Amino acid sequence: MIADQAITVRVRRERSEDERRVEEITRDAFWNLYAPGCVEHLLVHRIRTHRDCIPELSFVIERDGAVVGSIFYTASKVRSPDGWEHDTVTFGPVSIAPQLHRQGLGRALITHSIDEARRLGHRAILILGYPHHYEPYGFIGAKRWGIAMPDGRYYRGFMALPLFDGALDGVAGTVVFSDVYDADPADAEVFDRGFPPKEKKVQESQRIFERAAQELNE
Ligand SMILES: CC(C)(COP(=O)(O)OP(=O)(O)OC[C@H]1O[C@@H](n2cnc3c(N)ncnc32)[C@H](O)[C@@H]1OP(=O)(O)O)[C@@H](O)C(=O)NCCC(=O)NCCS
Repeated sequence: MIADQAITVRVRRERSEDERRVEEITRDAFWNLYAPGCVEHLLVHRIRTHRDCIPELSFVIERDGAVVGSIFYTASKVRSPDGWEHDTVTFGPVSIAPQLHRQGLGRALITHSIDEARRLGHRAILILGYPHHYEPYGFIGAKRWGIAMPDGRYYRGFMALPLFDGALDGVAGTVVFSDVYDADPADAEVFDRGFPPKEKKVQESQRIFERAAQELNE
């Protein structure tokens, strides 16, 4: 627990009574950011009951007793050309309520989850995202270890963090992410009807994301 200028911040496991609030915050944080609308609140909803969910790494962050963000982890793996499979973990969605960005809450949440993943003995975290979001925690392009995306290519936004010395040495191959992330936008549309109406818009952040998602690590 951190108390700073009379604000109390606490990271703890998600409880069933947090679920609706967590989905609302996720929706607010991702809405129109990477696509018109978003699917991430549906992802959170599905991850909790999916076989790849790692519940001991699902956290919420509280600010003065109110839930203001969350992070979810799923099982992933690296499949080597010789057929070996190496277990890894992946986080996402991670989000903080938009009005509270850049106040260190995401850092507190992500750092706590990384420490827990290490303590629980996981090998490495593999993620997709903006390098500027994750380099502060030590993530670097997975190309460094010869770990490629399923299409065999190395992208700038595909990053890894080994959780102990040498954890990814000799672990080259392609990543296999959980199929829970393959959400159909039509399902998200239906799921979204359970939330207050919100306008879908095309905006610049989506174009920036689309470009970034194609950027290779060369
Ligand atoms: C990503 C997210 C969880 C970060 O939470 P946050 O509370 O704003 O992050 P913090 O204030 O703890 O920032 C920690 C560090 O991350 C980096 N960072 C975070 N947001 C950044 C941004 N928009 N641009 C550049 N760097 C950023 C910075 O290094 C920052 O440290 P600094 O503020 O001292 O420079 C939050 O912005 C969010 O919910 N975004 C919308 C959903 C999303 O994009 N999730 C990630 C999907 S890949």
